[in-house]
Amino acid sequence: MDSRLLKGVPVRDAVLEELRAKLTSAPRSPGLAVVLIGEDPASQVYVRHKEKGCEKLGLHHVTHRLPPTTSTDEALALVADLNNDPAIDGILVQLPLPSGIDQDRVLQAVDPAKDVDGFHPDNLGRLVSGRPRFVPCTPKGILRLLAHYHISTVGRRVAVVGRSVIVGRPLALLLNLKGEGGDATVTMCHSRTPDLAGALKDCDLIIAAMGVPRALGPDVIPEGSVVIDVGINRITDPTHPKGTRLVGDADSEALMGHAAALTPVPGGVGPMTIAMLLENTCEAMARNEGWHGLG
Ligand code: GUN
Repeated sequence: MDSRLLKGVPVRDAVLEELRAKLTSAPRSPGLAVVLIGEDPASQVYVRHKEKGCEKLGLHHVTHRLPPTTSTDEALALVADLNNDPAIDGILVQLPLPSGIDQDRVLQAVDPAKDVDGFHPDNLGRLVSGRPRFVPCTPKGILRLLAHYHISTVGRRVAVVGRSVIVGRPLALLLNLKGEGGDATVTMCHSRTPDLAGALKDCDLIIAAMGVPRALGPDVIPEGSVVIDVGINRITDPTHPKGTRLVGDADSEALMGHAAALTPVPGGVGPMTIAMLLENTCEAMARNEGWHGLG
């Protein structure tokens, strides 16, 4: 059996093309502010991708780069300024924040109407109650990717491996909401799940989101299942020109010919996250302007 590759790049391009067409009749350009504090190398790369996405779509965007010594009060002051800036529709605080900053206080300071990441408790609460406003970008991107490839979740057994607030937990909530893109029977697994293979045994769809390189292989992934790999891990590889390369949380090489389909890393879920961030920023502008052109 050949495994089908569920590529994110063409889906991202289609989402951007659709947004670009709709924005031609928009009252103004949506604006995104990114707050990047510290020097985490992965965060620097992610933020660069987000900036490139904004440039591709012609969105107004600013990145505030602050040193790792930034205090919680300084971060809160910047967020307050951005909350009051009428040219900014979306605010994204890149995580993780340096250990000296109170992450919860900073995320709670973001105006929920500008919280394009969907991490504010108001937005997470809306998601729990089944009336989402901003849906976190990676879970939303995964559902969009599945829809694009006509992989239904309705009535399926889905396992989410990893319980982060950014991916695993909101994704599990979305998957069991009523309706298309939901209606799944969801099993949540994590580092304390004693028998992972047993928990995954009857699942049709597995979401790997633990942040552990190549952790899920054919020993735990059921044959013929669909694997969505959220992991982006840099590992050393002396055979590679750079000495490192990116791998997912699934062991994609070992799963080729075992899984029915899987997302590549890079080029799978990552591009979808960016596309959904841009879409959420457009939605924020539309709501602020009372514009109905996004449909
Ligand atoms: N760090 C890793 N993923 C994300 C994300 O989707 N949003 C933010 N703000 N930080 C992240």
